[in-house]
Amino acid sequence: MNKRLPDEINPETRLIDYYARRAPEYERIYHRPERQDDLRKLEQLVAQAFRDLDVLEVACGTGYWTWFIAMQARSILAADSSAEVIAIARDKDYAACAVSFVESDAYSLGNVEGTRSAGFSGFWWSHVAKAKLPLFINALHSKLDDHAPVVLIDNRYVEGNSLPVSRHDAEGNTYQMRRLVDGSEYEVVKNFPTETELAEQLMPHADDLEIELLTYYWLAKYRVASCA
Ligand SMILES: C[S@@+](CC[C@H](N)C(=O)[O-])C[C@H]1O[C@@H](n2cnc3c(N)ncnc32)[C@H](O)[C@@H]1O
Repeated sequence: MNKRLPDEINPETRLIDYYARRAPEYERIYHRPERQDDLRKLEQLVAQAFRDLDVLEVACGTGYWTWFIAMQARSILAADSSAEVIAIARDKDYAACAVSFVESDAYSLGNVEGTRSAGFSGFWWSHVAKAKLPLFINALHSKLDDHAPVVLIDNRYVEGNSLPVSRHDAEGNTYQMRRLVDGSEYEVVKNFPTETELAEQLMPHADDLEIELLTYYWLAKYRVASCA
């Protein structure tokens, strides 16, 4: 893979580069012992949320959550900007579920054709700058049927456990410094929304919104509002 990108490159391109390079080591994050109880709850919920549905998954990464969705979904179109993570996701065994992959930008999903009957995105919201959240939500909903169920999951900030926030910007975003095993360092946007912030962002586009806070993670479950 190419050398680390120069610092002046825009934050979104840097994030894509970071995850492409992190791909082989990415799933270590799911091995942290203290998070296992929460993960089992999320895995069960994700596995049960999409029975017989055709799911669009945005920012699928290495397919960790794709595998749980595939336990009951009819089909999954899993999108990510990075060919490197998709290559790892493609190698997993999804049994009877029809899983396909597409390289696509989460802010446009331009090469996702048609609409699907359900949506999922894991650990992507936190990397979206606050000003760009409407762009992501609109892109996702434009590719889903009216009333489609959606599940979003992501991290909560846990003092002493989460990687510390390295800086705040004027738009209210927070950042972390991430280090890969090869020693390279990246600054990435990592936002930790409160329940109120999540509700404010989602309410205009969502029916039956439910937000659940676990110790290490949050989960938002809703249906795409018909007027969205
Ligand atoms: C924190 S990882 C989450 C991966 C996976 N959903 C999971 O939870 O294990 C974030 C993912 O977003 C992808 N990504 C970064 N920028 C993107 C963009 N603009 N459009 C689509 N995916 C993007 C990265 O390649 C990475 O796979």
